[in-house]
Amino acid sequence: MAEKIGVLLDEHQVEARIAVIAEQLSQEYEGRTVHMIGVLKGSVFFMCELAKRMTVPVTLDFMSVSSYGNGTQSTGVVKLVKDLDEPIEGRDVILVEDIMDSGRTLSYLVDLLYRRNPASFKVVTLLDKPARRVADIEPDITGFEIPDRFVVGYGLDCAQKYRNLPYIGVIEE
Ligand code: IMP
Ligand code: MG
Repeated sequence: MAEKIGVLLDEHQVEARIAVIAEQLSQEYEGRTVHMIGVLKGSVFFMCELAKRMTVPVTLDFMSVSSYGNGTQSTGVVKLVKDLDEPIEGRDVILVEDIMDSGRTLSYLVDLLYRRNPASFKVVTLLDKPARRVADIEPDITGFEIPDRFVVGYGLDCAQKYRNLPYIGVIEE
């Protein structure tokens, strides 16, 4: 059966919010270079739109993690699949995520990256589902707080599908 996707946040809403975040960050990091770290693959669309709107110099790097689980239920054990290409010591780092759910992924990454002594460190997530938080962590900047629904689009996938939708959608039965 074909899945029907409903719109939760349309393209205009998402991009308007990203523009506001970019302006805020550009002011905050005036005179510095922002080193953005994206978590593959979900954060890529958000990261590009954010970076394009920044008015301070931006450099990019990527990492990839996987969550191990038994079937659909994540055990919360996070494994590093691809590390950064460059050291982050002394740099102004912004970790860019697509969505924060239990918070386990970010908790693992923040822990890992903090130990590498960046000059500053901030976490920016496009979406947050605070209702499902397990780990004791909050993002510094959130695009949108959303209800506990499984969302796709703007980088987010369901079994690798729908990442290229230009809006945030929910799969309807
Ligand atoms: P956490 O470790 O539970 O915070 O999970 C974060 C990761 O789970 C995200 O980076 C996504 O890859 C994935 N995820 C969580 N919720 C959703 C969703 O609603 N749609 C798509 N992926 C999700
Ligand atoms: Mg992700």
